[in-house]
Amino acid sequence: MTKNFFITTPIYYPSGKPHMGHAYSSILTDIIARFKRLEGYEVFFLTGTDEHGLKIQKSAEKDNKDPIDFCNEVSDVFRNLSNQLNLSNTDFIRTTEDRHKKVVEQLWGILSKNDQIYLSKYSGWYSISDEAYYAEDEIFEEDGKKKSITSGSEVEWMEEESYFFKLSSFEKKLLSFYEKNPDFVQPESRKNEVVSFIKQGLKDLSVSRTTFNWGISVPGHKKHIIYVWLDALVNYISASNYFNKDQHAPWPADIHIIGKDILRFHAVYWPAFLMAADLPLPKKIFSHGWILSGDEKMSKSKGNILNPIELINEYGTDEIRYYLAKEVVFGLDGKINKDNIEICINDLANNIGNLTQRVFALIDKYYESKMPNTSENYTQNSITIIEPKNFIKCLQNLEIHNYIKEINKYSSKINKYVNDNEPWNRKLNSDTNIKNILNTSLNSIKNIFILMHPIMPKKSEYFLNLLGLNTFSINNLKIDIPVGQVLTKPKILFKKY
Ligand code: ME8
Ligand code: MG
Repeated sequence: MTKNFFITTPIYYPSGKPHMGHAYSSILTDIIARFKRLEGYEVFFLTGTDEHGLKIQKSAEKDNKDPIDFCNEVSDVFRNLSNQLNLSNTDFIRTTEDRHKKVVEQLWGILSKNDQIYLSKYSGWYSISDEAYYAEDEIFEEDGKKKSITSGSEVEWMEEESYFFKLSSFEKKLLSFYEKNPDFVQPESRKNEVVSFIKQGLKDLSVSRTTFNWGISVPGHKKHIIYVWLDALVNYISASNYFNKDQHAPWPADIHIIGKDILRFHAVYWPAFLMAADLPLPKKIFSHGWILSGDEKMSKSKGNILNPIELINEYGTDEIRYYLAKEVVFGLDGKINKDNIEICINDLANNIGNLTQRVFALIDKYYESKMPNTSENYTQNSITIIEPKNFIKCLQNLEIHNYIKEINKYSSKINKYVNDNEPWNRKLNSDTNIKNILNTSLNSIKNIFILMHPIMPKKSEYFLNLLGLNTFSINNLKIDIPVGQVLTKPKILFKKY
């Protein structure tokens, strides 16, 4: 029976070009997806773009474009980035697609039928220029006019008809859900944030707007546009096609990977919407930290972004994937800069790169590039023996940085094993001995590249192909390269800086 695994990235706003933060989320999600495939899962990996709402409408207006033309353009940039990052996503959803609109309308229908939505009035101090409501403590008076403290723009008392979702009635249900599923949100610090937010009390949520039109209308009430977050979160259902009972991809998601900026939407609203619709909840939400630029979050609005494409062109896709996964502790914030990238790539070259070249050179020189055999009574040196479960454990705990640390530790051990045994030293070693050492070393290097496959898919595939391996799985860790296998010497794998 096939084991399924459903993993998602956030769907990004195509309000501006993607930056390193988006790339980070997508790459880390891809690493988990690829690892699950190594473990033998059939992986459904979803990413995409979140295209409705005022923010997008305004970005389009600024560009003098029709919202849909604007979205088509920028969504394509995100789609292309997925290719440049070498993501293995199996779907790319756009919320402007019909398959999505249909499901949002269906879900709205279910929520209405279940009496979870009601029509009422939203009132508050409204700034037309900001298209935003402000609370009493967010305004001040100047020249007899009320203004927003944050933007300085004039506000007026406004009442807008709005649909509300009965979020307040989910306070207890959510808390008891969190009690029963303590690992639902990870890391734990984020779970604690969510729980204390819920404990402060939940108000009903306004889920429709009437002041703009770029979005999906409430069925049967056209002037109401469905709140963009209710629209966006449903993408996970639309892509899975779950409402089509006969033919749908896996549901619920095994894991939603998100940044900590959108924790509340995924950890409070999303489970509440699903509970309200009697639908199964995702199994896990992992909220990672910020990619920082200096000490600040990298973001479009701050204009302090590193362009992922430039970095990839300069250093290579696999190198940047490796760098982000290794240097940023998954779950915490991480600074990135070029000096660090170069240090990190040099380490790769000196450790795994060097080991590979040395072992190949010797096999080339002594054994005409054919895999040497081991002697009959040979038993593998204990330091070269690989324990797959140590690696699997790291990834199951989503400690991706530790997973890489373990691989590098293993590679250092093999390097030391080669140094200590000096297979190039024909005085010290018999031919049998040299064969044993090189056979063991190359099988270990094979294992390093299998384990590295989720992180550096291109380099790993290139290298493993040279050994005659074309399919990769965790099981290959225990399967040796056949004796006599013709090997092709790799080009330099990692350039030094
Ligand atoms: O919030 N560091 O889209 P968005 C790390 N459309 N990750 C970052 C980052 C940074 N500096 N900046 C952005 C939205 N991200 C909604 C999501 S989901 C149903 C709807 C990543 O374009 C991170 O994953 O603002 C964050 O959560 C996401 O991009 C926000 O992307
Ligand atoms: Mg954002």
